[in-house]
Amino acid sequence: MNKIFSTPRGTTDILPEEIALWHDLEAKSRDLLSRFGYREIRTPLFEETELFARSMGQTSDIVQKQMLQLKSQNDDTDSANFALRPEGTAAIVRSYIQNDLDKKEALSKLFYAGPMFRGERPQKGRLRQFHQIGAEAIGPNSASPFLDAEVIALSVKLLTTYGLPQEQFQLKLNTLGSTQDKESFSFFLRQQLKSHLQALCPDCQNRFERNVFRILDCKNRDCKSVVARLNLDYSYLSDESRQYFTQVCEALESLHIKYEINQTLVRGLDYYTHTVFEIACPALGSQDALGAGGRYSGLVAQLGGPQVDAIGFALGIERVLLALGKKTQDDKPIDVVFVSLDESVLKHNFMLSHQVREAGFSAAMSYRLGSMKSQMRLADKLKARYVIILGQDELNKGVVTLKNMSDGQQEEIPIFDLTLLVQRLKI
Ligand code: HAM
Repeated sequence: MNKIFSTPRGTTDILPEEIALWHDLEAKSRDLLSRFGYREIRTPLFEETELFARSMGQTSDIVQKQMLQLKSQNDDTDSANFALRPEGTAAIVRSYIQNDLDKKEALSKLFYAGPMFRGERPQKGRLRQFHQIGAEAIGPNSASPFLDAEVIALSVKLLTTYGLPQEQFQLKLNTLGSTQDKESFSFFLRQQLKSHLQALCPDCQNRFERNVFRILDCKNRDCKSVVARLNLDYSYLSDESRQYFTQVCEALESLHIKYEINQTLVRGLDYYTHTVFEIACPALGSQDALGAGGRYSGLVAQLGGPQVDAIGFALGIERVLLALGKKTQDDKPIDVVFVSLDESVLKHNFMLSHQVREAGFSAAMSYRLGSMKSQMRLADKLKARYVIILGQDELNKGVVTLKNMSDGQQEEIPIFDLTLLVQRLKI
């Protein structure tokens, strides 16, 4: 028996009846992102593995456990050094540097939409191939709390524009401070956690030295209870960083954007500094983050580019669709369906449908003769605005019958009078 293939675990087909919903989200995103001044950028689906390791951090879960590396059968190629992109930011920064965008503009506002790949254990809302719509604002002019607030407002606005009511999601906000503040923060955390080390899960005991921040967002119950008892405050922040964060909060308030400060929000990627945020939809269960982002002041320079600031975010489209609770959206109605009453008229309907499409309308027909009933069923399924019926009798008279499906009115139109037909279809 022939093997029946199916999608790899953690990947899905997006079927034609689902695609209208995707197009709708994409169109709304493009419109809104361009109103905020973002232009689209498309980068390869794979990059050098080292780019991801250097940007997200060797100790991040993604780099440690989730990279889908490309293997080649040919040892001579360097493809073993490539990995499918787990996120967009690193590649955008690589492109920003490679294409000297800093020399062309003081602020590059870039957006992307496309698949990302992470070798995670699949579950509801967690896939190995998923899609993000994201935006990055990079450049010397990007270091402003107004931009932080604008980026956050944009991600919230995207969700409400998709139709998700604001009550269904929560905006969590935190600041990690500057690179120096992060150092003090990690020292502060180690001091506080030192005496609780035995109570942490084995992963977090490891993280204590490698990446102490990650202990703060560990899902393990014991770790959570240790973290809940920590005396977190912003004492490790410099005055400058504290003032910056206050300005971000004030700018959000001026736009009436509700947020909650969550000091355990540290995000799993090393590149973040200062403002970090996450938008959660509690109804989604354990994988509840609809999107997230933050500022990354050092990344561009760290990857060999100029010392410029940057901030961005990405939304997970599959999770947004889960939150919207929609799987399908009706297709656009078709303008006309051609119904053939006789084998001999198929070729006429074939040519007519072609001419109607040339004139700018959508058209469909049954390519094999079926009963009138089955052809009318097709017209109903496609939500035809009009049906054109052609049989031997009509052909002999040199006409087609045009039926308006909204009021049932029928009229005969000369078969070669395309101008009249087009006039009718326009109504
Ligand atoms: P992230 O938090 O890793 O951030 O991912 C952003 C969003 O992508 C998540 O909130 C979630 O909605 C979606 N997502 C992530 N992993 C999966 C998965 N396995 N299955 C389904 N959806 C998933 C980033 O990727 C950063 N690059 C965001 C950013 C941009 N920060 C600054 N600029």
